[in-house]
Amino acid sequence: MALLSVHNLSQSFGGLQALTDFNMEIGGYDLVGLIGPNGAGKTTVFNLVSGFYTPTRGAIVFNGKPTRGMKPHEVTALGLARTFQNIRLWNDLSVLDNIRIAQYHRLGYGFLDAVLRTARYARAEKNVDRKCRDILDMMDLTEFVEELPKNLPYGLQRRVELARALSTKPRLLLLDEPAAGLNALDVDGLIHLIRWIYNEFKISIWMIEHQMKVVMTLCQRLMVMDFGKTIADGAPGEIQNNPDVIAAYLGDGAV
Ligand SMILES: Nc1ncnc2c1ncn2[C@@H]1O[C@H](COP(=O)(O)OP(=O)(O)OP(=O)(O)O)[C@@H](O)[C@H]1O
Ligand SMILES: [Mg+2]
Repeated sequence: MALLSVHNLSQSFGGLQALTDFNMEIGGYDLVGLIGPNGAGKTTVFNLVSGFYTPTRGAIVFNGKPTRGMKPHEVTALGLARTFQNIRLWNDLSVLDNIRIAQYHRLGYGFLDAVLRTARYARAEKNVDRKCRDILDMMDLTEFVEELPKNLPYGLQRRVELARALSTKPRLLLLDEPAAGLNALDVDGLIHLIRWIYNEFKISIWMIEHQMKVVMTLCQRLMVMDFGKTIADGAPGEIQNNPDVIAAYLGDGAV
């Protein structure tokens, strides 16, 4: 059974049809890329799948459960985590606290426990703290735990966002343009890091990316969108030579 199954997903914003009948299945251990020109509808797909928007039409089944109408944190609790095209970190909280607040949906204590600081709460907090430090350590971020994200270079902020997503123990990780704003050296580091995450955590990764080197190097499968529709879906080698894809990127005059 597919880990994620999306059927005829469609989204309009007022008069704008941003997404039309998008279909897709992801298994338990896939690395898939989603590419396409600006405004094609890629981020919209991620916003729908992760519960940030409710689709105008269509069905999403993740981990055996229909998720249409669920809130983002409920989808996260089912095992889906994401990063954002524009980094979304709490800039006035430390790196460690940014990871900690992502855990609250997973803690087994309620409001009273937290207020009364029960033994259960204290135990849970200690546990969370250790797990957060473990993931930061794995991502080579230990020396920055007390820093504020806004004081870190862009590449490290992206890494903190990735650590936060991983800390929720996802089975599927959505990355929205992880290489955006990185220099060539950092892009190579990112490729290495994503491959490491894939091998180490044995999870599925679905990424939107404009930098061809990243998707061509990493992905087993590429989907291409243009004007809210899927125009190609296949192995990277096939996609590269697909005339529809070339036309979408370069304009019809190119073919
Ligand atoms: N919340 C929204 N309200 C209105 N229009 C939106 C909203 N979100 C996206 N759109 C529109 O939907 C279309 C698809 O946007 P989307 O952000 O999904 O594109 P994209 O493929 O991610 O592009 P990019 O590569 O530039 O990030 C665009 O025309 C965009 O302006
Ligand atoms: Mg986008």
